[in-house]
Amino acid sequence: MALKITVIGTGYLGATHAAAMAELGFEVLGLDVVPEKIELLSQGRVPMYEPGLEELLSKHVAGIEGSSGRLRFTTSYEELGAFGDVHFVCVNTPQKHGEYACDMSYVDSAFASLAPVAREGSLVVGKSTVPVGSAARLTEVLPDGVELAWNPEFLREGFAVQDTLHPDRIVVGVESERAEKLLREVYATPIAEGSPLVVTDFPTAELVKTSANSFLATKISFINAMAEVCEAAGGDVVKLAEAIGYDERIGKKFLRAGIGFGGGCLPKDIRAFMARAGELGADQALTFLREVDSINMRRRGHMVELAREALGGGSFLGKRVAVLGATFKPDSDDVRDSPALNVAGQIHLQGGQVTVYDPKGMANARQVFPTLGYAESALDAVRGADVVLHLTEWREFRELDPAELGAAVGRRVLLDGRNALDSARWREAGWVYRAMGRPAA
Ligand code: UDX
Repeated sequence: MALKITVIGTGYLGATHAAAMAELGFEVLGLDVVPEKIELLSQGRVPMYEPGLEELLSKHVAGIEGSSGRLRFTTSYEELGAFGDVHFVCVNTPQKHGEYACDMSYVDSAFASLAPVAREGSLVVGKSTVPVGSAARLTEVLPDGVELAWNPEFLREGFAVQDTLHPDRIVVGVESERAEKLLREVYATPIAEGSPLVVTDFPTAELVKTSANSFLATKISFINAMAEVCEAAGGDVVKLAEAIGYDERIGKKFLRAGIGFGGGCLPKDIRAFMARAGELGADQALTFLREVDSINMRRRGHMVELAREALGGGSFLGKRVAVLGATFKPDSDDVRDSPALNVAGQIHLQGGQVTVYDPKGMANARQVFPTLGYAESALDAVRGADVVLHLTEWREFRELDPAELGAAVGRRVLLDGRNALDSARWREAGWVYRAMGRPAA
């Protein structure tokens, strides 16, 4: 008989995983402790913006006309425990307030609720990003007869569906052959075929995730450090990245210099990794991540200074600053640790009159930063602006008409914090265009 799957936590990771498991042919029950989320999901709707997810979900949610009916949602752990053969734990592990370490309270409470209700013989699979050593600790929470595996998730927001259905690799940390066999059964599906499956012990599986994110963060900070040097020396970091990227050992990806990385993963993951290494007495091994973090945070401050310079130096008081982009990256509505929103916030707190527009992130941005000005379109955001900052590289911004915007602004000055706009088009339309780590003109 086919395995029955449950998914605990319905954020970007859990909602996508649940929909993908239903797409693969499994009967799936998703759980969240927030009843409003469950109500939305049960109608085939997704409480965040993730391309393709709502379509995939509504293909399977029970009760929707024409759906497979394989996917249901609940708030009840009793129902979940009775239903599932394999339980995926997909709750988030944010950064603790005022500390580098990550907050394990959602994971801990998911395990505490699951332990008394999980059926004997069922398998619990952790997907959340956790400090190394967590799986070993959490095994102790589960009753005899309920096993644990760790199966980190590498999906990117904006590509969550694609990354889940066609992962680069599947990593399973297991302590028994039975756990490995069950997970192989889950992933022995037509859609995930072709992805290498790497079997490891618990600590290695946990470390694969944090080290992969640390590597990606390091790559971005490397190119941003080169941007700093290029600015000092008069070089062009975009050309430099292209040229070094042709070396296959280096590769072109994740070499886009700009205002740096943000989001719910990379910043908090490198910090939690440093904190955990400290606890293990291996902090020296990761001191370079401190530098990765500070290069990254410096980018935000640098953008603020470029804006100040573009306004003639001095105070932001009374200056109109238009900000295009609020999310931490395009094709997402996520504003967690967003460099764009951080820059907008810094300028606002220094007296600038900031107006933000983002294609999908407005509701979340308003919630996080209600005192900023918001406009309903890029054109409305730039009206009368003394300087325009392009801070999240949405396609919509690449397609803007520089002449139309030029007619609306106070001064035609554009700072491209993502090196993503066509400089020639903007300059031809009479704009002063300045990018990050590139010559001024
Ligand atoms: C990341 C990892 O990529 C993913 O594998 C992991 O599962 C979760 O964390 P995500 O946070 O969705 O995914 O975003 P990602 O595409 O990695 O981008 C992170 C940040 O880096 C964004 O703010 C982005 O703008 C920035 N970035 C990315 C750069 O500044 N330059 C680049 O070259 C690439």
